[in-house]
Amino acid sequence: MEVVSLRDLERIARERTARDMWDFIDGAAFDEISKRRNESKFEELTLNPSYLIDVANRDLSTTVLGENISFPVMIAPAGGQRQHHPKGELATSIGAGMADTLYALPTSSGYSIEEVAQVATGPLWFQLYHSDDEITEYLVKRAKLAGYSAICLTVDVPTYGAKEKDLRNDFKRIDNLHNGSLRDRPAYLKRKDVGPRDFADWETTGYSGLTWERLDWLKSLTSLPLVVKGIRTVRDAVMCAENGVDGIVVSNHGARQFDRTLSTIETLGSISKAVGDRLEIYLDSGIRRGSDVLMAMALGARGVFVGRPLFWGLSYGGAEGVKLMLDILKAEFDRALSYCGFRSVSEINRSSVNIPSNWSY
Ligand SMILES: Cc1cc2nc3c(=O)[nH]c(=O)nc-3n(C[C@H](O)[C@H](O)[C@H](O)COP(=O)(O)O)c2cc1C
Repeated sequence: MEVVSLRDLERIARERTARDMWDFIDGAAFDEISKRRNESKFEELTLNPSYLIDVANRDLSTTVLGENISFPVMIAPAGGQRQHHPKGELATSIGAGMADTLYALPTSSGYSIEEVAQVATGPLWFQLYHSDDEITEYLVKRAKLAGYSAICLTVDVPTYGAKEKDLRNDFKRIDNLHNGSLRDRPAYLKRKDVGPRDFADWETTGYSGLTWERLDWLKSLTSLPLVVKGIRTVRDAVMCAENGVDGIVVSNHGARQFDRTLSTIETLGSISKAVGDRLEIYLDSGIRRGSDVLMAMALGARGVFVGRPLFWGLSYGGAEGVKLMLDILKAEFDRALSYCGFRSVSEINRSSVNIPSNWSY
């Protein structure tokens, strides 16, 4: 069998991808210490199996902000998909739909909000980088009209994150493969802080006048629920709960923006303790196994997202490859659930995970 785990997909994708594109996808900020930490901290956790329980019938399904998904793994918003694969976000959204899960379309997608909505069969969120009030209003309204079910505002890019491999490779975006949703508004792309700037593109937008005080303005643009992505601290999670945010993604952007921060699995427990049921909590950054999914859920996540693995799936086989990547995670998660004695995701609880004593929980 050529592909058994996500690591097999990663190896094959690396072989098939041009070096500079690979570095763009795989790379992280500065010394990439947090990127390694994202995965290694999962390895410090252990699971407690529970036997002699009838787990013959297991239900992996759940809901996120009211949308049904077949298991609690979703596809994270990630720019560059169309430069990586000709079908880009179309293929990814189709693959997510085939696995009956949710796809979050990035602001900078090569295909437009509507083009993706036309082919997608599963629920969609629209990820927003706020660069300018007028553009945000334009995009948010289109997402609602096209049937997206939430706005996912990414907040962890106050300035451009230094991915040094991209700088060394002089990695260049191919402009017409990005920002498909603004193809009809070339003037917007020329604006300072918005327009294409080599590889960094939208990721350079940075601070642009959106603060906690102005979240109400963003919410007033749409009736869609608001998810805030990039939360790392109890303080910011509590601020989200107090400002009427519906969900948070505990994420460090796959360590692509800022190095030397804690991994997300380390911060999840204290965040979920602090905000509890006041909003839905999701996690990304470093999920590579079904057991990682179960651990995140045991520590308070309602679901998780994967970022880099979507590119591995695309390389391997477009939409089918994305579905295969998700199917592998689903089978692994199902197995972990059965060994821990759970019949459904609602039964998962903290007692199934051992947390090292030096973690600050
Ligand atoms: C190539 C690439 C591009 C990304 N672009 C975006 C983006 O445009 N917006 C965003 O919110 N997150 C972006 N991310 C971060 C992902 O949404 C997610 O937080 C991260 O990939 C999760 O970590 P993982 O790759 O270890 O699964 C990107 C990630 C990758 C790998």
